[in-house]
Amino acid sequence: MLGTGYLGATHAVCMAELGYDVIGLDVDEAKVARLSAGEVPFFEPGLPELLRKALDSGRLRFTTSYEEVAEFADVHFVCVGTPQSKGSYAADLTYVEAAFSTLAPLLTRPALVVGKSTVPAGTAARMSELVLSLAPSDGVEVAWNPEFLREGFAVEDTLHPDRLVFGVHSAAAEATLRASFAPVIDAGCPVVVTDFATAELVKVAANSFLATKISFINAMAEVCEVVHADVTKLSEALGHDTRIGKRFLHAGLGFGGGCLPKDIRAFMARAEELGAQDALQFLEEVDAINKRRRARAVDLGRELLDGEYAGKRVCVWGAAFKPNSDDIRDSPALDVAAAVQKLGAAVIVYDPEAMGNAKRAYPQLAMAGSALEAARGADIVLLLTEWAEFREMDPAKLATVVSSPRLVDGRNALDPSVWRDAGWTYRALGRP
Ligand SMILES: NC(=O)c1ccc[n+]([C@@H]2O[C@H](COP(=O)([O-])OP(=O)(O)OC[C@H]3O[C@@H](n4cnc5c(N)ncnc54)[C@H](O)[C@@H]3O)[C@@H](O)[C@H]2O)c1
Repeated sequence: MLGTGYLGATHAVCMAELGYDVIGLDVDEAKVARLSAGEVPFFEPGLPELLRKALDSGRLRFTTSYEEVAEFADVHFVCVGTPQSKGSYAADLTYVEAAFSTLAPLLTRPALVVGKSTVPAGTAARMSELVLSLAPSDGVEVAWNPEFLREGFAVEDTLHPDRLVFGVHSAAAEATLRASFAPVIDAGCPVVVTDFATAELVKVAANSFLATKISFINAMAEVCEVVHADVTKLSEALGHDTRIGKRFLHAGLGFGGGCLPKDIRAFMARAEELGAQDALQFLEEVDAINKRRRARAVDLGRELLDGEYAGKRVCVWGAAFKPNSDDIRDSPALDVAAAVQKLGAAVIVYDPEAMGNAKRAYPQLAMAGSALEAARGADIVLLLTEWAEFREMDPAKLATVVSSPRLVDGRNALDPSVWRDAGWTYRALGRP
């Protein structure tokens, strides 16, 4: 496994759990040291226990040596990051190119090099040419196997995925991939075998669909705000329609994280390079609706504070881009917190798991050690990531620590009547 971040570490541990002998490689020495010591460097439920088990079994180890993995493995999975490039929508492929071009010259034995990172269409073909030109062995081939795991459910999604997608150029590569996932396939997981470009597209098309569904209901929330309708009821009613379904139809602060925002932008950038920008123009609007929700949450808070953030104490609940993760990449919660601080408020943030990452990325924001501590003396509470701890908060207890019982529910996570009955001025996105 080349690259042991959220995706690669999870995949390395799960492959060992499935019975394979695995080495995880990363260029980050500190990360390799922590993983080798049995410590998962990020929050992922269930993963620490499986990491410990895999290390104890002797089937998993970690290294920073490309020579060691080239010597060891029959199959290499490239799981390095593909963040948004600075100053453009395009994916930054530096890490992918570095991983393939460092590994290839060391491949003196037959091997399948499988890309798992999310990449623009055309990358797999380019990496294949690169590897074939650099690898000393004749038996080296490239394949692409996009990954769909969700942070927070990464172990379950890796051991029991909805589907496997194999982008291959030969029957031998398909056979190797089938053998690499044999326990998963034997358990009934569907396999879609296709060409490189289609495999690459499956991932970005899936994320574009999900982002569109979220932005659709958030656009409905904007309309609800104008006509004083309730988007939570609207979404409940829509969700009963089996053609529509209720998943990803929850109105709120919108999507963030290390995948959806950068994947739809990279997809647009690639389409433009290929002259197909018209086909994806709607994604520009999907992105814009998503960003407008953050601005609307800031405005709602200001309305509750009688038009002024300056001099006010604002409690922000949530820093991770979603619950059950410590990932703060493009986090709506931190975006809103930083915006509110810029408007002159004293902001105090609390998150059950993402405090370390939040402190590093936003040193200007004050952090508290608990939900109640963050709320102490607050003029307003902004609930921006729907952790269970916040959903289960007792409004009467919270009212005793704040300066004024005002709350913006940015995730439609609370029952308005319960909070209003407890004396709170409650506002949420897309509902009266
Ligand atoms: N995080 C998710 O939920 C998820 C889900 C599906 C797909 N993906 C895709 O998987 C890829 C990785 O995402 P992530 O969230 O795990 O990123 P991440 O930033 O957590 O991990 C990337 C890792 O790659 C390492 N790395 C960078 N250059 C390297 C090199 N040359 N050789 C070896 N290691 C190197 C980094 O040190 C880091 O540990 C991305 O393309 C992402 O879009 C992520």
